[in-house]
Amino acid sequence: MSKPPIALPEIFSQIPRHQILYPNPSPIHSLPTLTPRNPPHPQISIFAKREDQSAPLACAGNKYRKLEYIVPDILSATPLHHSHENHPNTTTPAGPATILVTEGAIQSNHTVQVAALARKLGLKALVLLSRGTGGGLRASQDPEAFLRTGNVQINRLLGAEVRILDENDPRASDAFPILEDLRAQGERPYWIPGGASIHPFGGLGYARAAFEIAEQETEMGLGGTGRFDFVFVACGSGSTVGGLIAGFRMLEARREEADRRIRPRRSVIGVLNSPTKPRSYHEERVLQFAQRASALIGLDSQRFISADDIKLEDRFVGSAYGVLDVETKEAAERMARMEALVLDPVYTAKVARGMLQWIQEEEIRQYARLHSLDKVNVLFIHTGGQAALSAYADVN
Ligand SMILES: Cc1ncc(COP(=O)(O)O)c(C=O)c1O
Repeated sequence: MSKPPIALPEIFSQIPRHQILYPNPSPIHSLPTLTPRNPPHPQISIFAKREDQSAPLACAGNKYRKLEYIVPDILSATPLHHSHENHPNTTTPAGPATILVTEGAIQSNHTVQVAALARKLGLKALVLLSRGTGGGLRASQDPEAFLRTGNVQINRLLGAEVRILDENDPRASDAFPILEDLRAQGERPYWIPGGASIHPFGGLGYARAAFEIAEQETEMGLGGTGRFDFVFVACGSGSTVGGLIAGFRMLEARREEADRRIRPRRSVIGVLNSPTKPRSYHEERVLQFAQRASALIGLDSQRFISADDIKLEDRFVGSAYGVLDVETKEAAERMARMEALVLDPVYTAKVARGMLQWIQEEEIRQYARLHSLDKVNVLFIHTGGQAALSAYADVN
């Protein structure tokens, strides 16, 4: 049975959304064997939100949530946000998109979700995969296999055209000439930037997810603050974290104004997975995504969202994007062997590693002491990505 739709504030509820996810919220369940028993205070209860079980389309993961708010523009007779970010003034196409074009690293999870969506919408898909992004390909013991297994295989299975671009190919950093070629062939391409984060609507899906999580918190009767005090989630292109921050701040701002019993705010910890860019670069982007999403959903972003809300963890990035280091692999094995939870090697394994480290450290305990809590609730967001595993089969 489907549950009633999530209750969103007026302005937010009016933003067009094309449903891709199942009508019910993605499940949240406890991870009891990870809950530390020693020392007993505070009790730290760990839960997982299964975004990898959120949608019926191939390889469910966090991108479908973002895409739900982008589809109305894709299907519009006059798409507004179809152009490449470096060429914002491209002429508006005369009709809805005919082909979705996107980009990513060789084992990108995002591209698969765009390719699957294209099929569902009856559109073509062109997927640009760059050899130069991250170090997964270089670190692979079998680069030929890396280039054709995992998400590359699934993209092809879904009928997307896959183009693998060399490191020094300028189209890997600016795909505009490819879009121009398509236009010359009579297509109406719709460009979805990597991770869909810099798309103006990229943060809305996870702002809505925050409202979904808040309803689940209430139903679950969590104890402690009644909330997930710490939420751990991967931060790659950044709008998953940014959207969540916007949504939670909106919820908290409404509550704070309504009942004056100010409860501690949730902390969203974005776990970075790449050393390519410094933490400050990501902080700036996430702040921008959070403010942009909050402005769209009707929250005064300047008043309610500041740099203090952005908490990014950069200790677990490893040697390169897409490279599975020994400690991350151990964290993935621990989750698989203790909770039968299979993570992906690039994002969620690093999040698990970060979360497991945090629960050993002082910050969560300090928070409990500060707010006189016997119990702290921690949420791990599983954003999908397991299809990349076969490309990492030889990592030992
Ligand atoms: C499995 C998985 N988790 C998390 C992320 C990070 O999400 P975002 O790019 O919104 O930061 C990605 C991004 O590609 C991903 O594939």
